[in-house]
Amino acid sequence: MAFPYWWLAVLAHGLLVVFVAVAVGDTLLEVAEERPGGDATHDKAPDRDAFSHAAPNLDPAKQLNFAVGNGFFKRLWVSAPASTSAADGLGPLFNARACQRCHIRDGRGHPPLEPGTQSESMLFRLSIPAEDEAQQDRLDSGRETSIPDPVYGTQLQGFSVAGIEAEGRVEISHESIVRELAGDDRVELASPRYALRDLAHGDPHPALRISPRVAPQMIGLGLLEAVDEASILALADPDDTDGDGISGRPNRVHSAELDRLAIGRFGHKATVATLNEQNQLALHVDIGLSSPLRSEPWGDCSAAQVACRNAPHGGSPQYDNLEAHDQVVDLLLLYTRHLAVPARRNPRDPDVIAGRALFRQVGCAGCHQPDLVTGDAPGHTENARQHIWPYTDLLLHDMGEDLADHADDGQASGREWRTAPLWGIGLTGAVAGHTRFLHDGRARSLEEAILWHGGEAATAREGYAALTAAERAQLVRFVESL
Ligand code: HEC
Ligand code: HEC
Repeated sequence: MAFPYWWLAVLAHGLLVVFVAVAVGDTLLEVAEERPGGDATHDKAPDRDAFSHAAPNLDPAKQLNFAVGNGFFKRLWVSAPASTSAADGLGPLFNARACQRCHIRDGRGHPPLEPGTQSESMLFRLSIPAEDEAQQDRLDSGRETSIPDPVYGTQLQGFSVAGIEAEGRVEISHESIVRELAGDDRVELASPRYALRDLAHGDPHPALRISPRVAPQMIGLGLLEAVDEASILALADPDDTDGDGISGRPNRVHSAELDRLAIGRFGHKATVATLNEQNQLALHVDIGLSSPLRSEPWGDCSAAQVACRNAPHGGSPQYDNLEAHDQVVDLLLLYTRHLAVPARRNPRDPDVIAGRALFRQVGCAGCHQPDLVTGDAPGHTENARQHIWPYTDLLLHDMGEDLADHADDGQASGREWRTAPLWGIGLTGAVAGHTRFLHDGRARSLEEAILWHGGEAATAREGYAALTAAERAQLVRFVESL
């Protein structure tokens, strides 16, 4: 028998494969993963401004427009009519006078931090079940994701211009829920209950549902917008065919901008398809300004709120009778598409590396998809073809009863939420001055956020709870390094 030379070939090939795998593993960890936003990552100080930098890959002209867009994001709108006619039109009902009041230093908002106080950066969506065929049709077509309260509209506004009454406020009380951890440790979670108070127009609809939400952080949103729908759908597993207990599915909504049914990406229930639509929704509902896609000047005043609808508004003929005209929304779009993602801190720390493995081992990565590749990004090609590390699949997941708001929104049920992106999350305290997490800011630490996970994420939570205290600390260190 001749010497089996083919063995040498197999051996060499095997070595080659091992070598490449290690090299690729290394490359991913050391090059791509440390710069989660790809070319839109910044290396500036991890301080209070860490979420406010322009992506370094913007050309100088766009950097200038980014700065002007930032001005609009921070602008304090005033009520009409005002001498500064370009900045009037606030309200009549509003939640805050500027985007930045809620997206604190481009970071997230929070619930009241002291008992008995109100928080501007948290808001409450209002909805009722469809009551007739016309309403059901609007939901089925995806043109509306919820049916507003007939009087109070889609959101409770706690502020109003002079002469118009604010709608009311929300009182928050807490019950405690205990979670047991390995090693006889236990954590007490504060479960919030929400009740409407001081309502200006009497009782709301008897079937009213309240969905509490804090403003999310603003980094890397243009990159998330640039991910192809096919890449998101590839992660969906609505019938859990792989049997891992995780069955992510997209929200589908009608996009006025794309003029078709599209995958929702923005908002805690992924109810908005494009950044431009999300920005104009915010102008309209949160601040009370008209814009090209939402031209009514009265914001969220319902037909039943007659005085509110008749109040003066800030549109002027030279701006198409809009309060926030084309140029304003274009600059806001540029701004919100190009807020850079901070580089990782301490990614090579041994505890962080160990936590990285634990994150995958207990199943966090089943929803918090570590990396994605962006598509062509027409109109913002700086965000095109980037290898990004957002730790989200942009899909909806049933997160269990404890986190449920019982308010469906588009195709999202009352128990479903969009996987929150985790990039930058370790800088929340430095940027926004607090460490409150989840859609309503109920979690007071990253560990509490993990322990609130239920539903499809119950197995991952139990996996976390079963780790030793040292391992839990490593996993949290990893999340802090993102
Ligand atoms: C009163 C507080 C408040 C104000 C003011 C506000 N936002 Fe928001 N913003 C929120 C909340 C809450 C959400 C989450 C909405 C949801 O879950 O549907 C959000 C979501 C967003 C998102 C989507 C983020 C993501 O990760 O999905 C964008 C973009 C955004 N806002 C832009 C703006 C812009 C631009 C302005 C100013 C024109 C603005 N916001 C004003 C509270 C606010
Ligand atoms: C079944 C899907 C799923 C799994 C598995 C999962 N998560 Fe989440 N995660 C979510 C969703 C959805 C949210 C948003 C929930 C909300 O806002 O109420 C979230 C929110 C978070 C947040 C808060 C983010 C923020 O911006 O406030 C953290 C931190 C987090 N997850 C970490 C983890 C870790 C660590 C694990 C593993 C132990 C894990 N998650 C497993 C789906 C999942």
